[in-house]
Amino acid sequence: MGETDIAGEDFYHHPVLLKEVTENLGLSPGKIIVDCTVGGGGHAEVILERILPDGFLLGIDLDKSIIPLAGERLNKYGEGFKLVQGNFRDIKAIMSDMGIKMADGFLLDLGVSSYQLNDPTRGFSFRLNSPLDMRMDKEQKLKAFDLVNHMDEETLTRILENNAQERFAKRIASAIVMARRKKNIETTTELVEIILKAIPRKFHHSHIHPATRTFQALRIAVNSELDNLTHFLDDFFALLSLGGRIAVISFHSLEDRLVKNKFHQLVKEGKFRLLNQKPIRPTPEEIAENPRSRSAKLRIGERIK
Ligand SMILES: C[S@@+](CC[C@H](N)C(=O)[O-])C[C@H]1O[C@@H](n2cnc3c(N)ncnc32)[C@H](O)[C@@H]1O
Repeated sequence: MGETDIAGEDFYHHPVLLKEVTENLGLSPGKIIVDCTVGGGGHAEVILERILPDGFLLGIDLDKSIIPLAGERLNKYGEGFKLVQGNFRDIKAIMSDMGIKMADGFLLDLGVSSYQLNDPTRGFSFRLNSPLDMRMDKEQKLKAFDLVNHMDEETLTRILENNAQERFAKRIASAIVMARRKKNIETTTELVEIILKAIPRKFHHSHIHPATRTFQALRIAVNSELDNLTHFLDDFFALLSLGGRIAVISFHSLEDRLVKNKFHQLVKEGKFRLLNQKPIRPTPEEIAENPRSRSAKLRIGERIK
């Protein structure tokens, strides 16, 4: 999820761009699909409906705690699927471990799920008072706490600028460094208060909460999100069967740019075609029903050689 994160969505009922993904991923019985961000299994469920019998879905998620939830939802499909905890940056190793040589389709629905966003122990939402955590993989050592309390001011500024184009990056980083001199910044609420004080009042009234960009920037940094995506994009093509398709839903411009550039490079090499020149956006109806979808961009491509 990106700049327009909204807490309070019910992730079970709102897989983003569901129809657009499932109608364009070339699904039919017998296909092997890898859902690299299976989350609560919303997209996966509809994919399974279209690829069974004889098809197979491999669902991957970095967050171990989400796997049983997806499992519950998909249970009825018996042997038709398998779920694994893992990072899609390791797609090659994960597929090889599972004995899957090629996939007929990949899906990436990037960012955090509402399940993670609404969990008060995780620290993803500036609307909940939580410890500064933000790890998708709870076994990872680095937390948002470490960045906020130990990173030097210049690097903090760069993270806020690079990962979220925060125009007040310098002021926020400086306010964080000042505040932590007195005591560690422990919670999301403490951090939000620091951000609110750092950003001039006249900029508090836009439709985006003043803490949105800082939280996005820290989350991207904690989880190495851009790096993960870059690794995946370097590796997926060799694992995609001829005629196979990939769908990527991104929620901010940095992710979308990585996807767009890689897709264009593959097109130039003559082995890939884009199903849509411009990214597919949610309809106004979907945005009204599910505000989380409003910054979503979907790109789909097909291996032709
Ligand atoms: C927006 S949710 C996916 C929701 C899912 N499509 C559904 O319909 O329920 C994104 C999920 O991707 C996972 N994720 C983020 N980065 C990941 C990575 N590098 N590897 C694997 N999973 C990742 C998150 O833990 C989260 O559960």
